[in-house]
Amino acid sequence: MEIKILGGNANPVVLEGICSHLGIAPTKHFVGRFSDGEIRVQIEESVRGQDVYLVQSTNPPAENLLELLLLADAARRASAARITAVIPYFGYARQDRKDRPRVPISAKLVANLIEAAGIDRILTVDLHADQIQGFFNIPVDNLYATPIFKRFFLEDFEEKISAEKWVVVSPDVGGIKRARLIAEKLWNLPLAMVDKRRPRPNVAQVVSVIGEVEGKNVLLVDDIIDTGNTIANASKALIERGALRVLVMATHGLFSGRAREVLGESPIERILITNTVFRRNRALPEKTQVLDVSGLLAEAIKRIHSSGSISALFL
Ligand code: R5P
Repeated sequence: MEIKILGGNANPVVLEGICSHLGIAPTKHFVGRFSDGEIRVQIEESVRGQDVYLVQSTNPPAENLLELLLLADAARRASAARITAVIPYFGYARQDRKDRPRVPISAKLVANLIEAAGIDRILTVDLHADQIQGFFNIPVDNLYATPIFKRFFLEDFEEKISAEKWVVVSPDVGGIKRARLIAEKLWNLPLAMVDKRRPRPNVAQVVSVIGEVEGKNVLLVDDIIDTGNTIANASKALIERGALRVLVMATHGLFSGRAREVLGESPIERILITNTVFRRNRALPEKTQVLDVSGLLAEAIKRIHSSGSISALFL
């Protein structure tokens, strides 16, 4: 059984990157549009009996999700032996429970759609909440981007991180587990937390800072940057409470709306993200540095293909 890799238009950079790490060419395929805008998909070489990987993030527009579903349907009807969706950024994950009246559980609906399209397993990076794995009845490998950030700090960062000078901060209660993991993996740093409230969607208010940040350099850790309000407000509150500087480390950079301006005006010194979300012709906020996830995903694909363990990738 051979590895066959293809994808939609959501993340061509990661698709190319994975192929180049694996030393294979993408399987010939077409993902375009009919004249009225309807999505047209065709896999242009045989995948019969093969191990197929569909690389596609599901951030907006919703057509990214639809392209993934159509590619999966095409692969299934072409008798692929196994179809794995490689979803660098799993969008629609933030609504993962019914926490107010008359709202959908979007993450569960998307999981149902993915399974209905015939996908056999999922490989993704930093799911918004680990328990979303349970929305699927197929295996989900949820990689953490931590090893990529850790390598950056070891090999490319100009300074040495130490527990005397640095503190890891979560910008909200929901992110505390992620921040704690990173604090432990990065030289056992101390941990603090911002108490953030969301009076309505996309509005983030800081209520207080829990923990010691005075006189320290802050590594502010989040999974997603969307409007930028969460980390911009957190950084202001941290500087007001005596933090020396704030660096941000977040896996998925969506940067919607005024994020570029909001972050430009904030006291954040540097923003590290990964390329799980592709930004076609849209400028990143200044101070942003993008790290590549394709090596990590390629390694995971190699191991899934050969039925090897991927737990070694969870540094
Ligand atoms: C929230 O639970 C997430 O972890 C992020 O903090 C949030 O999605 C960031 O959104 P924004 O940049 O719009 O404040």
